[in-house]
Amino acid sequence: MIGVKVRVPAKLNLQLAVGPPRGDGYHGLVTVFHAVSLFDEVTVVPAGRDGIAVTGEGADRVPADQDNLALRAVAALRAAVTGAAADRAGVHVTIAKRIPVAAGLAGGSADAAAALVACNELWDAGLSGAQLAEVAGRVGSDVAFALLGGTAVGRGRGERLTPALAPALAPATQYHWVLAFADGQLSTPEVYATLDRLRAAEAAEPDLDAALMSALRSGDARLLGRALSNDLQQAALAMFPALRKTLAAGLELGALGALVAGSGPTCVFLAASAARALDLAVSLSGAGVCRSVARVTGPVPGAAVVPVAS
Ligand code: C5P
Repeated sequence: MIGVKVRVPAKLNLQLAVGPPRGDGYHGLVTVFHAVSLFDEVTVVPAGRDGIAVTGEGADRVPADQDNLALRAVAALRAAVTGAAADRAGVHVTIAKRIPVAAGLAGGSADAAAALVACNELWDAGLSGAQLAEVAGRVGSDVAFALLGGTAVGRGRGERLTPALAPALAPATQYHWVLAFADGQLSTPEVYATLDRLRAAEAAEPDLDAALMSALRSGDARLLGRALSNDLQQAALAMFPALRKTLAAGLELGALGALVAGSGPTCVFLAASAARALDLAVSLSGAGVCRSVARVTGPVPGAAVVPVAS
């Protein structure tokens, strides 16, 4: 085997409820993750020592050294596997980015998850999904979800996951989303810190939104649009006021719901159909309220090996 290529999706948070800061620098949260069809591709090949190259969307803003989350994931997996696989030499990781960097879409976490799946395969390490998820949880809060994909409830820092819908009950609904990418970035730790400052009183412990879960069970996009929520949005808007205009424009143009993606600054809009999403995307790009737009659908599966054409 020469190398392994893995495709991994971006995530949205359909709900992001943030509790008070914890002693360890993180916030307890309850979130509903949703994987969408915007993918990075990560390829690993054996090498004398670990190295990385990044191409594509925002590549110049991704650290191309040991600080890269994908290389940290490689090191974490190497430490977790025992026996022959643990002795493997280095790997060279190539990341082809389409998920914008520091955009609230967990692109860095996605690349880390992809690196875990790829090295597990390359080294024939045989870790189960649950074992990979445990390593992922140590690498970053959103990494475990990028392995799983679909729609899932995250607790703890976001790394403790349960599927949002029992498979037998899950309607085959595909939702149509429009992403509006901003001209700029937001730092996740700074957005969390701003939220702490903006909150006058100690935040309540976060809770799963029953209306959102009921909307997901019904598969009704109108109900889902009304139930979208993100506690980080007020902080992202305080730091990036132009996003107010973007959100307002999308709603004005007929989106069923609008919110900031994760810690931002990407804005997310839910459309009633593929045709409405196309209209919305065209109108939003014409309105001059964002850098560019993308149409995506969700849910999609998590990180998966791309078969190499023989
Ligand atoms: O886990 P990850 O490296 O993705 O988190 C990035 C930063 O986001 C953390 O260092 C922390 O400042 C903030 N964060 C948080 N609470 C979470 C997840 C992230 O405060 N549950």
